[in-house]
Amino acid sequence: MKSVASAPAKIILFGEHFVVHGTKAILAAIDKRVKVTSSFTDDKTIKVNSQLGTLEVPMSSSHEEVKSEFRPFVYLANKMINSHQDVNGLEITINSDIPIGVGLGSSSACCVAAAASICELCFAGANELELILDLAIEAEQTIFPDTSGADCTVCTYGGIIEHPSIEKIDNTFDLNLVIANSMIPHNTKNSVEKVNKFKENDEKRFSELCDLENGLIGEVIMAMKNNNSTALGLKMSENQKYLEEIQVSNDTLRDMISSLSEISLGSKITGAGDGGCIIALINDENMDKVPALLPNDKEYFSAKLDTKGVVWKIEK
Ligand code: MEV
Repeated sequence: MKSVASAPAKIILFGEHFVVHGTKAILAAIDKRVKVTSSFTDDKTIKVNSQLGTLEVPMSSSHEEVKSEFRPFVYLANKMINSHQDVNGLEITINSDIPIGVGLGSSSACCVAAAASICELCFAGANELELILDLAIEAEQTIFPDTSGADCTVCTYGGIIEHPSIEKIDNTFDLNLVIANSMIPHNTKNSVEKVNKFKENDEKRFSELCDLENGLIGEVIMAMKNNNSTALGLKMSENQKYLEEIQVSNDTLRDMISSLSEISLGSKITGAGDGGCIIALINDENMDKVPALLPNDKEYFSAKLDTKGVVWKIEK
């Protein structure tokens, strides 16, 4: 018997970094997925197979003893093994089409899909979204203790959501978002620590920026409800100014944003910044101009919304 679950990648439309400090954020799930398959074994080990490598450790091992990329899976395996008497071993296999380390939520989607897969394997029929989300956030905290939980939330529920209310935002118009990858890998934990330092150095300005971000998000929701893509684009560019001020941008990201500026309604970093991806809101008739404008060494694709969120099933 195998338990198979999959979860989508994500983009942050508004509010990255500030969300760690309690502001609202708006996120969307997109049509790239990670699939996690789990099954029982009899060899008293936890095995993890992924494109980052393979791990095999005795069932008694703690997540703290393994390399960081395997920690969430060993954490989840332990948690389930401890609450399920008859487990004699667990094998977890991860297959992903989400690029790693570029701000598209690869690690959160893995945690969500693994939580759903392992939980369904051990407690068939008991899976529910709230439980999966709680487990996924705990698993992600083993590598990134300060996570806001926003990424795991949208990977669980899918669609466009406001965080932390988890209210779905219906987009009445086609978003036409281009995601362009700077090809510079980043480390979310380091970027979040950098922003913590900015906050420590200038509490007053950081608090003003948090207020501005919250205000902006209120206006964005109105713009989306009113089908006003011009206003939405302007608000993306406004959000980028706040991200520039907290220093999570760099010359490469700024160049990419400016190279698309003649055809985009607005653009910004998505995710932790310092590398990773930008998103640009582009009118349909201008989509074919994107390749000529972006530097040759950058990858890009058009984002399609995922509305399903995490899904799971048992295969006999
Ligand atoms: C990373 O995708 C988003 C951050 O806001 C961190 C977080 O929300 O946990 C930078």
